[in-house]
Amino acid sequence: MSGRWPAQRGRLITFEGGEGVGKSTQVRRLAERLRGRGLEVVATREPGGSPKAERLRALLLSGAAAQYGALGEAILFTAARIDHIDTLIKPALTRGAFVLSDRFADSTTAYQGALGKADPRLLQLLERIALGPLRPDLTIVLDLPFSEGMARAARRRGVQSTPDRFEREDDAFHEKLRHAFLEIAAKDPARCVAIDASQSEEEVAEAVWRIVEARFLAQRVMQATGTE
Ligand code: TYD
Repeated sequence: MSGRWPAQRGRLITFEGGEGVGKSTQVRRLAERLRGRGLEVVATREPGGSPKAERLRALLLSGAAAQYGALGEAILFTAARIDHIDTLIKPALTRGAFVLSDRFADSTTAYQGALGKADPRLLQLLERIALGPLRPDLTIVLDLPFSEGMARAARRRGVQSTPDRFEREDDAFHEKLRHAFLEIAAKDPARCVAIDASQSEEEVAEAVWRIVEARFLAQRVMQATGTE
Protein backbone atom coordinates (compact mmCIF):
# COMPACT_ATOMS: atom_id res chain seq x y z
CA MET A 1 0.00 0.00 0.00
CA SER A 2 1.43 3.36 -0.99
CA GLY A 3 -0.26 5.20 1.89
CA ARG A 4 -1.05 8.16 -0.36
CA TRP A 5 -4.56 7.08 -1.12
CA PRO A 6 -6.14 5.18 1.75
CA ALA A 7 -8.22 2.72 -0.28
CA GLN A 8 -5.31 1.86 -2.55
CA ARG A 9 -3.97 -1.65 -2.41
CA GLY A 10 -2.96 -2.17 -6.03
CA ARG A 11 -0.37 -0.27 -8.05
CA LEU A 12 -0.82 2.37 -10.70
CA ILE A 13 1.91 2.37 -13.35
CA THR A 14 1.71 5.00 -16.08
CA PHE A 15 3.59 5.14 -19.38
CA GLU A 16 4.35 8.54 -20.87
CA GLY A 17 6.32 10.00 -23.77
CA GLY A 18 5.92 11.46 -27.24
CA GLU A 19 4.27 9.99 -30.31
CA GLY A 20 5.35 6.52 -31.47
CA VAL A 21 7.71 5.79 -28.57
CA GLY A 22 6.21 2.33 -28.04
CA LYS A 23 4.05 2.89 -24.98
CA SER A 24 1.19 0.62 -25.97
CA THR A 25 3.57 -2.22 -26.90
CA GLN A 26 5.32 -1.92 -23.55
CA VAL A 27 2.01 -1.78 -21.65
CA ARG A 28 0.98 -5.00 -23.38
CA ARG A 29 4.30 -6.72 -22.65
CA LEU A 30 4.33 -5.72 -19.00
CA ALA A 31 0.69 -6.79 -18.62
CA GLU A 32 1.52 -10.24 -20.04
CA ARG A 33 4.48 -10.63 -17.75
CA LEU A 34 2.59 -9.61 -14.60
CA ARG A 35 -0.31 -11.90 -15.54
CA GLY A 36 2.25 -14.67 -15.95
CA ARG A 37 3.00 -14.18 -12.24
CA GLY A 38 -0.67 -14.72 -11.47
CA LEU A 39 -1.37 -11.04 -10.78
CA GLU A 40 -4.52 -9.18 -11.84
CA VAL A 41 -3.71 -6.53 -14.44
CA VAL A 42 -5.94 -3.84 -15.92
CA ALA A 43 -4.37 -2.31 -19.03
CA THR A 44 -5.91 0.98 -20.04
CA ARG A 45 -5.20 4.25 -21.85
CA GLU A 46 -5.85 7.98 -21.88
CA PRO A 47 -7.67 9.78 -23.16
CA GLY A 48 -10.25 7.05 -22.74
CA GLY A 49 -10.30 3.86 -20.71
CA SER A 50 -14.00 4.04 -19.84
CA PRO A 51 -17.03 4.34 -22.16
CA LYS A 52 -17.68 8.01 -21.37
CA ALA A 53 -14.00 8.93 -21.56
CA GLU A 54 -13.69 7.12 -24.91
CA ARG A 55 -16.37 9.43 -26.30
CA LEU A 56 -14.33 12.44 -25.23
CA ARG A 57 -11.25 10.78 -26.77
CA ALA A 58 -12.93 10.76 -30.17
CA LEU A 59 -13.73 14.46 -29.84
CA LEU A 60 -10.22 15.41 -28.65
CA LEU A 61 -8.29 13.43 -31.26
CA SER A 62 -10.47 14.69 -34.11
CA GLY A 63 -9.17 18.19 -33.42
CA ALA A 64 -12.70 19.53 -32.87
CA ALA A 65 -11.79 20.65 -29.36
CA ALA A 66 -8.71 22.61 -30.45
CA GLN A 67 -10.87 25.71 -31.02
CA TYR A 68 -11.33 25.96 -27.23
CA GLY A 69 -7.58 26.48 -26.73
CA ALA A 70 -5.11 24.49 -24.61
CA LEU A 71 -6.97 25.15 -21.35
CA GLY A 72 -10.28 24.12 -22.90
CA GLU A 73 -8.67 20.90 -24.14
CA ALA A 74 -7.10 20.34 -20.70
CA ILE A 75 -10.55 20.64 -19.11
CA LEU A 76 -11.90 18.00 -21.50
CA PHE A 77 -8.91 15.68 -20.90
CA THR A 78 -9.56 16.18 -17.17
CA ALA A 79 -13.27 15.37 -17.51
CA ALA A 80 -12.31 12.16 -19.30
CA ARG A 81 -9.70 11.40 -16.59
CA ILE A 82 -12.19 11.86 -13.75
CA ASP A 83 -14.53 9.27 -15.27
CA HIS A 84 -11.62 6.93 -16.02
CA ILE A 85 -10.35 7.14 -12.43
CA ASP A 86 -13.78 6.77 -10.82
CA THR A 87 -15.14 3.96 -12.95
CA LEU A 88 -12.04 1.93 -13.82
CA ILE A 89 -8.83 2.85 -11.98
CA LYS A 90 -10.01 3.21 -8.37
CA PRO A 91 -12.13 0.03 -8.34
CA ALA A 92 -9.21 -1.92 -9.86
CA LEU A 93 -6.71 -0.54 -7.33
CA THR A 94 -9.12 -1.32 -4.52
CA ARG A 95 -9.22 -4.95 -5.71
CA GLY A 96 -5.42 -5.02 -5.58
CA ALA A 97 -4.83 -5.01 -9.34
CA PHE A 98 -1.88 -3.58 -11.22
CA VAL A 99 -3.30 -0.79 -13.39
CA LEU A 100 -1.14 0.05 -16.41
CA SER A 101 -2.14 3.24 -18.19
CA ASP A 102 -0.89 4.29 -21.62
CA ARG A 103 -0.67 8.03 -20.78
CA PHE A 104 -2.09 9.80 -17.72
CA ALA A 105 -1.92 13.22 -16.06
CA ASP A 106 1.68 14.01 -17.13
CA SER A 107 0.45 14.12 -20.73
CA THR A 108 -1.72 17.13 -19.85
CA THR A 109 1.27 18.83 -18.21
CA ALA A 110 3.39 18.20 -21.32
CA TYR A 111 0.91 18.74 -24.16
CA GLN A 112 -1.46 21.40 -22.84
CA GLY A 113 1.09 22.95 -20.44
CA ALA A 114 4.64 22.93 -21.84
CA LEU A 115 3.39 23.02 -25.43
CA GLY A 116 -0.05 24.59 -25.28
CA LYS A 117 1.07 27.19 -22.73
CA ALA A 118 -2.01 26.77 -20.56
CA ASP A 119 -1.42 28.40 -17.16
CA PRO A 120 0.49 25.84 -15.04
CA ARG A 121 -1.38 26.86 -11.86
CA LEU A 122 -4.71 26.10 -13.50
CA LEU A 123 -3.37 22.79 -14.79
CA GLN A 124 -2.18 21.88 -11.29
CA LEU A 125 -5.62 22.72 -9.98
CA LEU A 126 -7.25 20.49 -12.61
CA GLU A 127 -4.85 17.69 -11.68
CA ARG A 128 -5.74 18.02 -8.00
CA ILE A 129 -9.45 17.96 -8.85
CA ALA A 130 -9.09 14.82 -10.97
CA LEU A 131 -6.59 12.86 -8.89
CA GLY A 132 -7.19 13.97 -5.31
CA PRO A 133 -4.57 12.07 -3.29
CA LEU A 134 -4.12 9.42 -5.99
CA ARG A 135 -0.65 9.36 -7.59
CA PRO A 136 0.94 6.90 -9.98
CA ASP A 137 3.21 4.57 -8.01
CA LEU A 138 5.55 4.55 -10.99
CA THR A 139 5.74 6.51 -14.24
CA ILE A 140 7.84 5.16 -17.09
CA VAL A 141 8.85 7.90 -19.52
CA LEU A 142 9.84 6.36 -22.85
CA ASP A 143 12.34 8.71 -24.44
CA LEU A 144 13.01 8.73 -28.17
CA PRO A 145 14.36 11.33 -30.64
CA PHE A 146 11.26 12.86 -32.18
CA SER A 147 12.12 11.96 -35.80
CA GLU A 148 12.25 8.26 -34.89
CA GLY A 149 9.00 8.50 -32.94
CA MET A 150 7.18 10.16 -35.82
CA ALA A 151 8.48 7.58 -38.31
CA ARG A 152 7.20 4.82 -36.03
CA ALA A 153 3.82 6.55 -35.59
CA ALA A 154 3.49 6.85 -39.40
CA ARG A 155 4.38 3.16 -39.89
CA ARG A 156 1.88 2.14 -37.24
CA ARG A 157 -0.86 4.20 -38.91
CA GLY A 158 -0.15 2.75 -42.34
CA VAL A 159 -0.67 4.60 -45.57
CA GLN A 160 -4.47 4.88 -45.53
CA SER A 161 -5.27 6.76 -42.35
CA THR A 162 -4.44 10.37 -41.57
CA PRO A 163 -2.43 11.62 -38.58
CA ASP A 164 -4.47 12.70 -35.53
CA ARG A 165 -4.66 16.21 -34.09
CA PHE A 166 -1.32 15.93 -32.25
CA GLU A 167 0.58 13.88 -34.83
CA ARG A 168 -0.08 16.70 -37.32
CA GLU A 169 2.05 19.16 -35.30
CA ASP A 170 5.51 20.18 -36.60
CA ASP A 171 9.01 18.95 -35.68
CA ALA A 172 9.66 21.73 -33.17
CA PHE A 173 6.49 20.70 -31.30
CA HIS A 174 7.69 17.11 -30.99
CA GLU A 175 11.20 18.08 -29.92
CA LYS A 176 9.72 20.34 -27.20
CA LEU A 177 7.43 17.53 -26.17
CA ARG A 178 10.36 15.20 -25.65
CA HIS A 179 12.05 17.74 -23.40
CA ALA A 180 8.83 18.40 -21.49
CA PHE A 181 8.58 14.72 -20.55
CA LEU A 182 12.27 14.54 -19.59
CA GLU A 183 11.75 17.58 -17.37
CA ILE A 184 8.72 15.98 -15.70
CA ALA A 185 10.83 12.86 -15.02
CA ALA A 186 13.75 14.91 -13.66
CA LYS A 187 11.47 16.88 -11.31
CA ASP A 188 9.98 13.78 -9.69
CA PRO A 189 12.70 11.09 -9.62
CA ALA A 190 10.99 9.11 -6.85
CA ARG A 191 8.02 8.45 -9.15
CA CYS A 192 9.46 8.65 -12.68
CA VAL A 193 12.06 6.66 -14.58
CA ALA A 194 13.12 7.66 -18.11
CA ILE A 195 14.08 4.78 -20.39
CA ASP A 196 15.92 5.07 -23.70
CA ALA A 197 13.28 3.86 -26.14
CA SER A 198 15.66 3.70 -29.11
CA GLN A 199 16.76 0.30 -27.77
CA SER A 200 15.05 -2.79 -29.16
CA GLU A 201 11.52 -3.60 -28.00
CA GLU A 202 12.98 -6.52 -25.98
CA GLU A 203 15.58 -4.36 -24.28
CA VAL A 204 13.01 -1.73 -23.31
CA ALA A 205 10.68 -4.45 -21.99
CA GLU A 206 13.55 -5.89 -19.92
CA ALA A 207 14.40 -2.45 -18.50
CA VAL A 208 10.75 -1.87 -17.57
CA TRP A 209 10.53 -5.32 -15.98
CA ARG A 210 13.66 -4.82 -13.87
CA ILE A 211 12.19 -1.61 -12.42
CA VAL A 212 8.75 -3.10 -11.75
CA GLU A 213 10.23 -6.23 -10.21
CA ALA A 214 12.58 -4.31 -7.94
CA ARG A 215 9.93 -1.81 -6.82
CA PHE A 216 6.88 -3.96 -6.38
CA LEU A 217 7.49 -7.69 -6.65
CA ALA A 218 10.55 -8.11 -4.44
CA GLN A 219 8.51 -6.29 -1.79
CA ARG A 220 5.64 -8.74 -2.15
CA VAL A 221 7.98 -11.71 -1.70
CA MET A 222 9.49 -10.10 1.40
CA GLN A 223 6.01 -9.42 2.80
CA ALA A 224 4.97 -13.00 2.09
CA THR A 225 8.06 -14.42 3.83
CA GLY A 226 7.93 -11.90 6.66
CA THR A 227 11.37 -10.43 5.92
CA GLU A 228 12.02 -6.69 6.08
P1 TYD B 1 -2.92 8.28 -29.01
O1 TYD B 1 -3.40 7.80 -30.33
O2 TYD B 1 -3.22 7.46 -27.81
O3 TYD B 1 -1.40 8.67 -29.17
P2 TYD B 1 -0.10 8.02 -28.59
O4 TYD B 1 0.02 6.70 -29.25
O5 TYD B 1 0.94 9.00 -28.97
O6 TYD B 1 -0.31 7.92 -27.10
O7 TYD B 1 -3.48 9.76 -28.83
C1 TYD B 1 -3.45 10.45 -27.66
C2 TYD B 1 -3.09 11.87 -28.00
O8 TYD B 1 -3.66 12.76 -27.04
C3 TYD B 1 -1.59 12.09 -27.99
O9 TYD B 1 -1.23 12.88 -29.10
C4 TYD B 1 -1.37 12.89 -26.73
C5 TYD B 1 -2.66 13.61 -26.51
N1 TYD B 1 -2.96 13.89 -25.09
C6 TYD B 1 -2.96 15.21 -24.64
O10 TYD B 1 -2.70 16.14 -25.40
N2 TYD B 1 -3.26 15.47 -23.33
C7 TYD B 1 -3.57 14.48 -22.44
O11 TYD B 1 -3.85 14.75 -21.24
C8 TYD B 1 -3.57 13.12 -22.92
C9 TYD B 1 -3.90 11.99 -21.99
C10 TYD B 1 -3.25 12.87 -24.26
